[in-house]
Amino acid sequence: MRLTIFGTGYVGLVTGACLADVGHQVICVDVDAKKIARLRAGEIPIHEPGLDEVVHRNVAAGTLEFTTDTARAVAHGQVQFVAVGTPPDESGAADLQYVLAVAETIGKAMARRKIVVVKSTVPVGTSDKVRARLAQVLSDRNSALEFDVVSNPEFLKEGAAVNDFLKPDRIIVGTATDHAREVMKEIYEPFNRNHDRTIYMDVRSAELTKYAANAMLATKISFINEIANLAERLGADIEEVRRGIGADPRIGYHFIYPGLGYGGSCFPKDVQALGRTARDIGYDAPLIGAVEAVNTRQKTTLFEKMANHFGGAQGLKGKRIAVWGLAFKPNTDDMREAPSRVLIEALWAAGATVVAYDPVAMDETARIYGARDDLMLAPDKYAALEGADALAICTEWQQFRAPDFDEMADRLAAKLIFDGRNIYAPDRLSRDGWTYVSVGRAPAY
Ligand code: UGA
Repeated sequence: MRLTIFGTGYVGLVTGACLADVGHQVICVDVDAKKIARLRAGEIPIHEPGLDEVVHRNVAAGTLEFTTDTARAVAHGQVQFVAVGTPPDESGAADLQYVLAVAETIGKAMARRKIVVVKSTVPVGTSDKVRARLAQVLSDRNSALEFDVVSNPEFLKEGAAVNDFLKPDRIIVGTATDHAREVMKEIYEPFNRNHDRTIYMDVRSAELTKYAANAMLATKISFINEIANLAERLGADIEEVRRGIGADPRIGYHFIYPGLGYGGSCFPKDVQALGRTARDIGYDAPLIGAVEAVNTRQKTTLFEKMANHFGGAQGLKGKRIAVWGLAFKPNTDDMREAPSRVLIEALWAAGATVVAYDPVAMDETARIYGARDDLMLAPDKYAALEGADALAICTEWQQFRAPDFDEMADRLAAKLIFDGRNIYAPDRLSRDGWTYVSVGRAPAY
């Protein structure tokens, strides 16, 4: 089938490449000419395992094309996916200007019936706004062309996006018409051969499903972090508690890892936007606000532990702190809302110097912070430790899990680790003379 994808960001690019990979004829269109030029030159703007290969393979096969030519893009696809950004505006609400601009572009250029599929994460009611905008543009043109609007939210995880797309847990299709339902069925048929994972529903339910899923996951994280904070003050070990509660299949072991709070481009934005939606309709939703508040506080906990160790924030002045892990989670270079940033900025405010290392987010760190006297970018994880007064771990990259502790001790000025991801066994480290401070494990710091 001929498909058009508006937006070559994270969701658009993965969606376009993966739909091309199963045989659809895909055009990805973006207003950012530089980005399109880079993509045409074979450069993938994001770090996502496996994505280069899928993009290159399909560009070479002629099934995937990149363009800035919106008229051609609209003419191409029977189905037009909208995968442009919905960043939060100052009030925390999702900014819909890009989504609605695409609706306008499609309305102005379409010459045949189209199905417009909203893939961007958008507040409930947005598909109705897209429908209204398109209808308006068509009526301005005196056109009687028909169109359908479908909500088809995306559930990709960064770092596993290609796999998530090719092997989805579920495909949510919100539509009011049989025509759109049939076409969506055909698009996703290659992913459903052995087991149909598509769940059809009305448009608003599909839109809310996306927010409910992310808010539920964020709630699990804030919940376990709250219990972790209690555990360390009560002399309990959150890792034991985690295993103990996870054994109940109603709770499960997934997504209840304590840490420094959730980051990234999705949970913080989506939890905020859902809270905003509730406020807009005058409904008090205290749980959603609490999830966000717990998370904001959790991001500061590693700094607080360090400050306590050094006798208050002033004790960090002039200290050199190594930081391992800058990305908001492993396997990505994305540092949006990353807990590492909250720690690093607090360390700077206290007058400490940071020596940072991340397996892939070094360029991103340099881009965000530029050159500064109190930031050094280390070429590898051990180099970051040279002469440092402590190590702080913010992201649980595999390569940090089993390091050479002797080498670490040789390089560090003190055998002191603040671990925001609980990747080491406390017994082993304390046996070897380390001071090891982690999350939710006594002693409280
Ligand atoms: C999240 C969802 O998991 C996807 O299903 C969704 O499609 C996506 O948002 C989106 O809306 O686009 P992502 O932001 O890539 O995906 O990252 P996650 O793997 O979910 O991790 C989010 C944050 O939670 C990370 O900072 C991670 O460190 C933290 N986390 C996760 C924990 O602190 N504990 C856990 O047990 C799990």
